[in-house]
Amino acid sequence: MSFWPMMASLPLLPTVVLGLGRHRARAAQLCYVVLTWMLRLLRGQVCAARTHSFVFSHCTHGNAKSVLEAFDVYAETHASITLGPQIGQAVNEMVKNIRPSRVLELGMHCGYASVLLLRLLPADGKLLTVEQDPAVADLGEEIILVAGFKHKQFQVLTGSSGQIIPTLHCLLEVDPGTSSTFNLVLMDHDPQQYLLDLQNLEKEGLLCPLGCSIIAIIRDQGVLKALKEMVQARPECYIIKSLNNDMLELFYQKSAQ
Ligand SMILES: C[S@@+](CC[C@H](N)C(=O)[O-])C[C@H]1O[C@@H](n2cnc3c(N)ncnc32)[C@H](O)[C@@H]1O
Repeated sequence: MSFWPMMASLPLLPTVVLGLGRHRARAAQLCYVVLTWMLRLLRGQVCAARTHSFVFSHCTHGNAKSVLEAFDVYAETHASITLGPQIGQAVNEMVKNIRPSRVLELGMHCGYASVLLLRLLPADGKLLTVEQDPAVADLGEEIILVAGFKHKQFQVLTGSSGQIIPTLHCLLEVDPGTSSTFNLVLMDHDPQQYLLDLQNLEKEGLLCPLGCSIIAIIRDQGVLKALKEMVQARPECYIIKSLNNDMLELFYQKSAQ
């Protein structure tokens, strides 16, 4: 069915649902999915400024959970590239098991995953988050502050992962008494950069030699293949801890040799 006839038939949906008798609940659910999908289509491209303004005005300031909920409500009816509730919940569980204290996020966007990560860090934990688009980086930083986090807990680094990774050592070393390596890296930026960035993080000695988890959000199957091949070629350093349609979790440990 083409777009406009489909739109014209939308007002008939409630009648169809009511006529479906015992399948009403499933039909209503289906209608909801169709309607939200249509709204997302109508509202077009992902827009960081709109995401920010919705979250800013629909959350309780100072309450990180409410910030995440506002992002989720927005994503139900607007185009969105945030992690979202399903992947968010899975990342949440993984991070609870990993219990990291130094986290690097590549691809901050409006700060959904940053807020999720910061909620799980210990009091002395730190998140460094990288965003290549300066305007988006400012919006994301404001959302993290709105969620109630302080600058001593996180730092937004504006630039591409390729530019920022070589500078990370200096940034970590300015925190006296803290580790200069990461024990968790979350990759949700340009999938074409995942492998190269991971190799550079390792080359720079930024992955904790005793163990570092890498969570890669999979938005491209070709990249998943490349990461799996790298792990197969380096079994002394990398293992796959878990894999599903949306994410790959790797564990890195420096080999003894
Ligand atoms: C999928 S979004 C990240 C969503 C975010 N994880 C969240 O849950 O809200 C990807 C973001 O990565 C940024 N990005 C893409 N390539 C990048 C790179 N090489 N370095 C840094 N940021 C990058 C984009 O500008 C975009 O804001």
